[in-house]
Amino acid sequence: MSERGAPGWRLWPSRWVAPGVEVACMGDPRTDIAEWDSVWLDARLATLDPAVAGELGVIEDGAIGVRDGRITWVGRRRALPGQLPDTVDVHECGNAWLTPGLIDCHTHLVYGGERAAEFGMRLEGASYEAIARAGGGILSTVRATRESSGDELLAAARDRLRPLLREGVTTIEIKSGYGLDTETESRMLRVARQIGQLDPVTVSTSFLGAHALPPEYAGRADAYIDLVCEEMLPAVAGEGLADCVDAFCERIAFSPEQTARVFDRAIELDLPVRLHADQLSDGGGAALAARYNALSADHVEYAAEAGIVALARAGTVAVLLPGAFYFLRETRVPPVARFRHHGVPMALASDHNPGSSPARSLVLMINMGCVLFGLTPAEAIAGVTRNAARALGLDGRSGPPAGVLAAGARADFVLWPIDAPVELAYGIGGLAATRVVRGGIAAGAADT
Ligand code: NIG
Ligand code: FE
Repeated sequence: MSERGAPGWRLWPSRWVAPGVEVACMGDPRTDIAEWDSVWLDARLATLDPAVAGELGVIEDGAIGVRDGRITWVGRRRALPGQLPDTVDVHECGNAWLTPGLIDCHTHLVYGGERAAEFGMRLEGASYEAIARAGGGILSTVRATRESSGDELLAAARDRLRPLLREGVTTIEIKSGYGLDTETESRMLRVARQIGQLDPVTVSTSFLGAHALPPEYAGRADAYIDLVCEEMLPAVAGEGLADCVDAFCERIAFSPEQTARVFDRAIELDLPVRLHADQLSDGGGAALAARYNALSADHVEYAAEAGIVALARAGTVAVLLPGAFYFLRETRVPPVARFRHHGVPMALASDHNPGSSPARSLVLMINMGCVLFGLTPAEAIAGVTRNAARALGLDGRSGPPAGVLAAGARADFVLWPIDAPVELAYGIGGLAATRVVRGGIAAGAADT
């Protein structure tokens, strides 16, 4: 018989749970029902909690107790640990499906200008790479971003965020990478932090100074990497602007050696890393990301077998970005079957950006992940909840976990107007959440 702590067992927020064991209710015994702030009753819970049986960890006739912005109890309604006192705010869900709040774990939401003209050029046959090499692409957004004030960047980004909030996004990652100088990169990240203060969404930031080579460093990529490592990274880390460090490792961006220099500096500064890896070619990005125990390797269409095995060993999440695949008319799909085979966790994100994925829907990415990449609906839903949290380091390794309905997790969840979870993958646009709760607070109409 297994011993607690043996392989296969997990410490899940408050108790040990054996593999495959169905958990009817989970709670923190230290929190009395009398101390709950609110309770959500009569819901079909897709908990995404690995401790609950089934891919989605469904609990029928479920209830969720909330206290101080955290879930304090999850289980069947009939197993509630006592009588609900009058002081608890009671929400009847009418048997609605309830999932964890959605997490968009890869976006470039803050930028100046847009690139519709470039899209027109691509429709007439120009390639994304050719436009980038001719000084357009990312660099055209860099010009527009450098010219934008913080207020302008903030207003535009909040506008882009609105549809994501309506469909239940409660956590979003936002990258810099369109400034490429210390001042503008810092401005972008400050704007990202402001969004987290102004809107009902938790923002996780990534410093992406190594996104493209700015024109003033043309032909001097190593000198630019010096600037990233010696000036930009210490500046953004010193101001607490970055939760993570990202880079674009690709033949039109930075080499594995240059990327490794950025990562070495990030680790010195105690920042975790993630990587735009193997998007347009196999540059060994997945293996590089794994070598640095990256939180995630993103895009990964061209990841090779050795890279996939390395990701599995490192526990790095493969973040799949079907919006960019679709919008760039790529033909190479990410190696989903190999990720599955090796147990690489897969997340899905919008990659919202003006050049390769002007997507403003994470629910649409669930559909695309299934239709274009062959994910199952359950994998896709895990990809925008539990695995997306892991890709941001929000899986409980520091602070309360997100992306699951479990005792101890953040009280971020969404009620849906659906009859079955597959409907989250079914529609092509147009599905809005019935109710979005973040930190235990239900967003009002004014918020969205
Ligand atoms: O994730 N791959 C690099 N960066 C972005 C695209 C940025 C752009 O084209 O502006 C991406 O797809
Ligand atoms: Fe990206």
